[in-house]
Amino acid sequence: MKFPYLLPILGLVVLSDAGKIKEFIESPSDGPDLSDYTLTTTLPITSFPPPYAWPDYAPSLTIYLHAPQDWAFSNVSNTVPIAPVLDTGSNGLMLDALDLNITNATLAGYEPGYQYLSSSTRLYRGAWVPFRLEFADSSGELVNVSAEVPVLIVNETLQCSGYDTKWKGDCPEENTSNHNLSPRGTQWWGIGFGREADGQSQGTPDKNALLNIKSINGVNVSASNSYRAGYSLRKDGVVIGLTEENTQDYTWMKLEMQKGFSKDPRDWRNVTGCVSIDGGTCRLSNILVDTGVTLSYLSTADKQVRLVSSNSTSRAKILAAGQNVLVRFGIEPGYAGVQYNFTTGSNSSWEPDEVRTKLVDYGKEEKINTGVHFYQEWETLFDADGGYFGVKYVGL
Ligand SMILES: *[C@@H]1O[C@H](CO)[C@@H](O)[C@H](O)[C@H]1NC(C)=O
Ligand SMILES: *[C@@H]1O[C@H](CO)[C@@H](O)[C@H](O)[C@H]1NC(C)=O
Ligand SMILES: *[C@@H]1O[C@H](CO)[C@@H](O)[C@H](O)[C@H]1NC(C)=O
Ligand SMILES: *[C@@H]1O[C@H](CO)[C@@H](O)[C@H](O)[C@H]1NC(C)=O
Ligand SMILES: *[C@@H]1O[C@H](CO)[C@@H](O)[C@H](O)[C@H]1NC(C)=O
Ligand SMILES: *[C@@H]1O[C@H](CO)[C@@H](O)[C@H](O)[C@H]1NC(C)=O
Ligand SMILES: *[C@@H]1O[C@H](CO)[C@@H](O)[C@H](O)[C@H]1NC(C)=O
Ligand SMILES: *[C@@H]1O[C@H](CO)[C@@H](O)[C@H](O)[C@H]1NC(C)=O
Ligand SMILES: *[C@@H]1O[C@H](CO)[C@@H](O)[C@H](O)[C@H]1NC(C)=O
Ligand SMILES: *[C@@H]1O[C@H](CO)[C@@H](O)[C@H](O)[C@H]1NC(C)=O
Ligand SMILES: *[C@@H]1O[C@H](CO)[C@@H](O)[C@H](O)[C@H]1NC(C)=O
Repeated sequence: MKFPYLLPILGLVVLSDAGKIKEFIESPSDGPDLSDYTLTTTLPITSFPPPYAWPDYAPSLTIYLHAPQDWAFSNVSNTVPIAPVLDTGSNGLMLDALDLNITNATLAGYEPGYQYLSSSTRLYRGAWVPFRLEFADSSGELVNVSAEVPVLIVNETLQCSGYDTKWKGDCPEENTSNHNLSPRGTQWWGIGFGREADGQSQGTPDKNALLNIKSINGVNVSASNSYRAGYSLRKDGVVIGLTEENTQDYTWMKLEMQKGFSKDPRDWRNVTGCVSIDGGTCRLSNILVDTGVTLSYLSTADKQVRLVSSNSTSRAKILAAGQNVLVRFGIEPGYAGVQYNFTTGSNSSWEPDEVRTKLVDYGKEEKINTGVHFYQEWETLFDADGGYFGVKYVGL
């Protein structure tokens, strides 16, 4: 059935409101339509004392662990709260078998797994065990939200230099150091996306607790049509469930599907944008806003950058003081929003501790990891159902 009477009406709108239509076409990326979604809540952040207070450092969420209902997990406490660090530079919750009172024999019954974290060159091995997580506030009071997600229960860690993704978690002996068969103290909680190509091939969306929320205030999230899977990191909390209201004033970037790691429709590639150093050309770059590091990591083919040796123990080269680093999100033409920028060595709260820089050949992947201090002045959101990344400037 056709609606011929609509045509003249539409024609009139276009003619009388041409300015508005033009503005619409030139806007960066129109966000998703979230008008159908209403189910949301904000998880309270557990912040540690300075210098580890969010957003000088990564945020944490307090949880209670509920292991599979099996005698083999009878020594895993579900009344001891833990507060692992939230890391957007990886994906998957990692906890140590010895800390959780889980034996090697028990682990052997589950799917073996690994995660490689490139910034620390550390490899974690163990098994993926399905857990239910109950979220709480920093005093341990339940907030009535639960998730179900496989957790990497770690029984082995090592440093692996020159790690190659083709090694799939196996590190040659000559590249291995600090091999630990009884690790303790790991509490690392990856909630990022698009990280599979960087040594985390198992960091697929099914491992992301914040995308696998099961209930909010007694409402079954899986059965609800009003829940939009996604989350937003803010100074005052982690919002789960995106709505029109809680995404106001965000600048959106459409993400491309991540292929080759899972069939999950929520598997999205990293963010694309550009990076300009000291007013130079804004060079096409992949962007990672990583809560897991206080440094920044830059790979650029811009040969004009001024580099010096790091003052830390690292042998890395870093950007010398006095250079402005500007990160533009998205590659749509005509984008004129505020862009994350800082000047190295200016003592601003939002600049990274240092910018470790690798010069790469033209044509190689250029990228920047901004580090966590980005969150001093900005918020982010990730729409997993629709494949959008959003940023919002909120000031200090
Ligand atoms: C639980 O802990 C006790 C005391 O250490 C130990 O004897 C028992 O084997 C443990 N059970 C399991 C299933 O690990
Ligand atoms: C592991 O067992 C010890 C000793 O029984 C207990 O103090 C601790 O809370 C347990 N940890 C977990 C995470 O269950
Ligand atoms: C696993 O076995 C290794 C080697 O025997 C041992 O050092 C380690 O403590 C065991 N891990 C656990 C979780 O029991
Ligand atoms: C550690 O866990 C893995 C994964 O289940 C298992 O294959 C391995 O044998 C365990 N390590 C030891 C030393 O038992
Ligand atoms: C480690 O692996 C890389 C290959 O990625 C190789 O170039 C390097 O020489 C190896 N050895 C050490 C000690 O890092
Ligand atoms: C969770 O929320 C539901 C619905 O509001 C309520 O019935 C239930 O008692 C709450 N549970 C807890 C543990 O607060
Ligand atoms: C929640 O809803 C899903 C989908 O309808 C259903 O499969 C699941 O059993 C429900 N869970 C609970 C705890 O009722
Ligand atoms: C970004 O994603 C692409 C495609 O998966 C990948 O080739 C690249 O290594 C990724 N970059 C980072 C920093 O993860
Ligand atoms: C490294 O330390 C020296 C001496 O304290 C200082 O002058 C220089 O600015 C520092 N470099 C950077 C990049 O912070
Ligand atoms: C650089 O960042 C500051 C705040 O950190 C902001 O006020 C300014 O507009 C930014 N500059 C550009 C060119 O985006
Ligand atoms: C930054 O702070 C350091 C130490 O507090 C000081 O020595 C340096 O002069 C400051 N640099 C700038 C550009 O303000």
